[in-house]
Amino acid sequence: MPATPEQTLIELLAIQPGERVLDAGCGLGRWTAELATAGARVTGIDIHAPLLEQARIACPEAEYHAADLLTWTPTEPFDAIYAFATLHWVLPPDKAAGALFGMLRPAGRFAAAFGGLSETARGLEGCYQPVPREYERVLKRAGFAILEVRSTAHHFLVLARREK
Ligand SMILES: C[S@@+](CC[C@H](N)C(=O)[O-])C[C@H]1O[C@@H](n2cnc3c(N)ncnc32)[C@H](O)[C@@H]1O
Repeated sequence: MPATPEQTLIELLAIQPGERVLDAGCGLGRWTAELATAGARVTGIDIHAPLLEQARIACPEAEYHAADLLTWTPTEPFDAIYAFATLHWVLPPDKAAGALFGMLRPAGRFAAAFGGLSETARGLEGCYQPVPREYERVLKRAGFAILEVRSTAHHFLVLARREK
């Protein structure tokens, strides 16, 4: 069976055993367990605390924080960040990219996916829907180097690296 965009985004991160990985906007923890299976020590962050109760069931070995990605500060920088369909909602985008940049160690990787939105979500005010070129510029302004951009039927995936 072909990989889903969520699995492809995990593959793009090329997680090494024991790396600290942030599941940014982990929600119900749909992909937190897969990040752990890939070898990561995962931290899941979500602004909606009740979702984390489900995430704890989906992946008990991860650490969780109910927090806003725009203001939360990790005690130790991450080796990589995974953000699937989260950054539509963390605004403004330059502030979100800057906050995530600040959570990574130098040369840390960042993988994000946009798209796959329902008709309702697409029409919502406050739902950020960039095209790849536009989002590449957001990441470059924050200090990231773009490593790869992939488009699938309903998403685009971007892999970037913290430059310094
Ligand atoms: C479309 S869901 C994606 C959830 C998960 N990544 C997945 O693929 O199943 C977006 C998630 O981002 C979370 N979120 C939105 N704004 C946030 C913020 N400022 N800080 C942390 N989480 C946020 C939402 O609560 C929601 O769980």
